Amino acid sequence: MYRWVITHQGRANLSAIDDSEVESLFDQFQTEIEAEKYSWNNTHSGLGYAGTVISVTDDTQVCEDFCIEINEQVKHILIPGCGSKIHLQQYITEHFPHIKSIHCTDWSQDAIDIAQQDYSHDKITYSIEDSTKLSFLSNQFDYVITSNSVLSSNDLANRKMIQEFYRVLKPSGFLRGLYPSVYFVQEIAYLDKKFSHLATDGSINIAKSSLYESKNDQVQILYTPLRLKEIFESAGFKRKTFEVYFLDTPHFLAENERIYHISPDSGLCVWEFMVTFVKP
Ligand SMILES: C[S@@+](CC[C@H](N)C(=O)[O-])C[C@H]1O[C@@H](n2cnc3c(N)ncnc32)[C@H](O)[C@@H]1O
Repeated sequence: MYRWVITHQGRANLSAIDDSEVESLFDQFQTEIEAEKYSWNNTHSGLGYAGTVISVTDDTQVCEDFCIEINEQVKHILIPGCGSKIHLQQYITEHFPHIKSIHCTDWSQDAIDIAQQDYSHDKITYSIEDSTKLSFLSNQFDYVITSNSVLSSNDLANRKMIQEFYRVLKPSGFLRGLYPSVYFVQEIAYLDKKFSHLATDGSINIAKSSLYESKNDQVQILYTPLRLKEIFESAGFKRKTFEVYFLDTPHFLAENERIYHISPDSGLCVWEFMVTFVKP
C-alpha cells in the first residue's frame, strides 16, 4: 500500500476547461503551495541549503553551461527561484561584463537574505517574487536561467511559472535550465537494489511524474521528457536543445554520495535535462 497520496489534482484535461476553471483549480491548492514555500524557507535557513539538497550552481562547469547561449545582445538576465547560493550570479558578473542587470528572485525570504548577504554587486537585484505571478513587465529579459527551480508538487504551479518566464522574456530571448526527471530515480531503482524500494513503495509515481522524498518529506513533480516539452511548447516556446546532463564530475559524485548515498564507484549518478527554449 502507498505510504502517501499525491495531494495535487488528479487529472484534468486542460484543453477541455476554460481559463477561469484553471484559475479555480489552482486556487484550491493554495494551502499546499504555502506549505511548499514554508518548507523551502526552512531548507534555506534551517539546516542550511547544502545540508539536504545538492546545489548544482556550486559547480563552475554547470554555471558555464547555463550561460552557453549568452551573447553580446543579452543584457538583462532573470534567475527565478535563485535560492540562497550565489555562484551563478557571481560567475555571470565575472565572465560577462557587458551584462547590465541580473535579477535574482525567490519566494523564500531567507533564501534572498542569505544570498544578498553572501554576494552583492551593483548589477544584481535580489527580490522576493513568486514565480507563478512575477511582478515584472512583459518582454523585459533577454535570458532566463532556471536552475532546478520548477519543482512544485502542483502541475498548474509549474505550468504557470513557465508561462511567466515566457511572458517576461523578450522575443528571441532564451530560457536555459536544468530539470530533474522522475525517470532518473526510476533508473537508479532498477540498477541498484539499494534503491529498488523506491519503485515499489510508492515513492516514484510515473503517471504523475512525481517523487516523494522522505528525507525532506516533500513531493515534487520531476517531469518526464514529453510532458516537459509539451508544457514549454504550450506556453509558446520553441525548443532549441533538450539534453541529458550527467552530474558526474568528482564534485557531484561526492555530493551524490553525501546527499543520496549513491556510491561514487557504482557507475550511477544523478542526471537531469538541460534545456534551451526560445521565445519566437
Ligand atoms: C531546488 S531549489 C534551487 C535553488 C537554486 N536555483 C539552485 O540551483 O541552487 C528550488 C528553489 O526554487 C524556489 N521556488 C520554488 N517555487 C517557487 C515559486 N513559486 N516562486 C519562487 N521561488 C520558488 C525555492 O524557494 C528554492 O529556492
